[in-house]
Parts: sequence; structure tokens; C-alpha cells
Amino acid sequence: MHKDLERILFSEEELKESIKALGRRLTEDYKGKSPVIIGILKGSVIFMSDLIREINLPCSIDFMVARSYGNEAVSSGKVNIVKDTDRDISGKDVIIVEDILDSARTLYAVRNHLLGKNPASVKICTLLDKKVEKAADITADYKCFDIENEFVVGYGLDYAEKYRNLPYIGVLKKEIYS
Ligand code: IMP
Ligand code: MG
Repeated sequence: MHKDLERILFSEEELKESIKALGRRLTEDYKGKSPVIIGILKGSVIFMSDLIREINLPCSIDFMVARSYGNEAVSSGKVNIVKDTDRDISGKDVIIVEDILDSARTLYAVRNHLLGKNPASVKICTLLDKKVEKAADITADYKCFDIENEFVVGYGLDYAEKYRNLPYIGVLKKEIYS
């Protein structure tokens, strides 16, 4: 285990099993369709690359970048779409793939933005769902795990751009970020 971690939350094997099961579910639910799977950079990259290989359907992929803007005191927390999708999603079934649903502000903004492009449907698929009050009216349609309100890293998730390459997910020691 990495020395900056308090404990491991999900091992490589647990992640693999859960993502396999999620891929089977998506394959079933989207039978006969060709979804456009959109990952939110950068946290979703590892999850996305493992997940799409468990989906047995014709599909296309893309990535978006969204950034939340400054002032934490402002509860509306403005989110800016820094990189939009370049797929034409009109009439398509879109699946947004995210690493973690926290306040849900990011996904609220991304979903609204995509809904403006007339897709047939937009669903949200997240690896982790943190048990915190959501600032926006968003729930995950698909998720692998619920977690407590702790700061986690690994398997794509970062703290100050570090730890994304850990193959497991762990709880970061408080002394690292406080
Ligand atoms: P939201 O808009 O508050 O839902 O923010 C979601 C984003 O915050 C995620 O995409 C992550 O980049 C980041 N985030 C929230 N909680 C954690 C965590 O525990 N570890 C790493 N990143 C986190
Ligand atoms: Mg991040």
C-alpha cells in the first residue's frame, strides 16, 4: 500500500469484479442500441477504459473537460465546459462516465449541457457515489460503490494530480491534505 494512504478501500480485484458486473448490466440495458459513452476527464480515464471493454455493444466514445469555478462561498458553484464533445449526439443514447459523484455540481452542468443537444437519452454512470448532500438534483443511474465522506485517491482519482496511477482506491491520510 502507498505510504500516504490510511487504508485501501477497494482492491484491484474488487474494482474488476464490480466493473465487469456493471458492463454486463449496460450491455443488457442498451441491447439494440449504440450508445455514445462520454468520459469526464481526467478522473474517469481508468474506469472508462476498463468499463468499455466490458460492454459488448457497438458504441462510440468521447471525452469532455468540465471545471468548477472558484469561490466556494457561492453555493451555485459555476461549472465551465472547457472541452465539449465533438460527436453529434442528436437522437443518440448518451452515457456520461464519471469517477466520483460528490456535490454533483459537475454532472449537473454536464448533463444540462448535453440535454441541449437533443439526445434520445442521457444517463449517468459513476464509479463512486459519496454519501454527502448533493447540491444539484442528480442521482447516478449506474454506480459501482457508495462511499462515506472521505477523501479517496487511486484508479484515476487524484489529490493535486497525484495518485491517479494507483491500481486500487484508498483513503488518503488527513495529514497529506490538511
Ligand atoms: P462534484 O461536482 O462536487 O460532484 O465534484 C466531482 C469531482 O470532484 C470529481 O470528478 C473529482 O474530480 C473531485 N472529487 C470529489 N471527491 C473526491 C475524492 O474523494 N477524491 C478525489 N477527487 C474527488
Ligand atoms: Mg480531481
